[in-house]
Amino acid sequence: MVDVADSGNGWTTMKRRKVEKLRREFSANVSHELKTPLTNILGYAEMLDSGLAAEADRAEFIRTIRSEAERMIGLVDDIMLLSHLDEGYSSDAFASVDLGEVVLAAADALQAKAARYEVELTVDPPKSPLVVEASASLLAELFHNLIDNAIKYNRPGGTVTVSAAKESGRAVARVADTGLGIPAKETSRVFERFYRVDHSRSKLTGGTGLGLAITKHIAQVHDADITLTSKEGVGTTIKVAFPSAIKGRVKSSQGRSKKRKK
Ligand SMILES: Nc1ncnc2c1ncn2[C@@H]1O[C@H](COP(=O)(O)OP(=O)(O)O)[C@@H](O)[C@H]1O
Ligand SMILES: [Mg+2]
Repeated sequence: MVDVADSGNGWTTMKRRKVEKLRREFSANVSHELKTPLTNILGYAEMLDSGLAAEADRAEFIRTIRSEAERMIGLVDDIMLLSHLDEGYSSDAFASVDLGEVVLAAADALQAKAARYEVELTVDPPKSPLVVEASASLLAELFHNLIDNAIKYNRPGGTVTVSAAKESGRAVARVADTGLGIPAKETSRVFERFYRVDHSRSKLTGGTGLGLAITKHIAQVHDADITLTSKEGVGTTIKVAFPSAIKGRVKSSQGRSKKRKK
């Protein structure tokens, strides 16, 4: 008889090797992603310090230093959130959250950005409260990432529609855009850490390449299914389906801690 939990078991060893490989790749990516803005900051700071920078260029150099530093902070925030999620997230901190309110607030916060990109952002909220058991802050992060992408990877005159409704007893939210779309062979890869279809566009729009990896992780923590459909040049829709709402939920304050890994 073979004990599957045994450390000498082939499957377990293979899994451990894969995790180690992913970890090594992640560290290499993090170092690379942090080094690029730091190198730029150092370069511009040295030019300002040397006194060689023309007076007319100084303001632009300072702006660049600032935006590169902001990029780094965004990246570190995303890495910290991912490592927090990697440690396992306890559903004990979950509360009843109205999905409609979450999507409305997330869209509201991104209206100004949509206007800058000349993209029309509309919300089709649920007819009645759509309650899910969730971490309100993680859900806010999830929808921020999806709507942010739908705006950034769009074109002037394009639209983003966010909706939430009950479907076959489940609470379902969708973020649909009429943007650039994702090539079929890359639709599964975009959920990988640091994967970008178009590296230069992502950098230009301040992306870290971690948004969808975080989104997928948050969906998993909530037992929600996430589905992406996309057509290059036509647009992308991401659907998030939450488990059926538990009617008349009474949450025990002594409930056992349910650690959920990945
Ligand atoms: N709505 C979308 N339309 C087109 N491409 C998208 C969309 N959402 C994500 N992508 C692609 O997937 C990549 C990964 O997304 P994400 O993890 O959020 O990273 P980023 O920081 O680059 O936005 C993006 O760089 C982009 O190429
Ligand atoms: Mg993103």
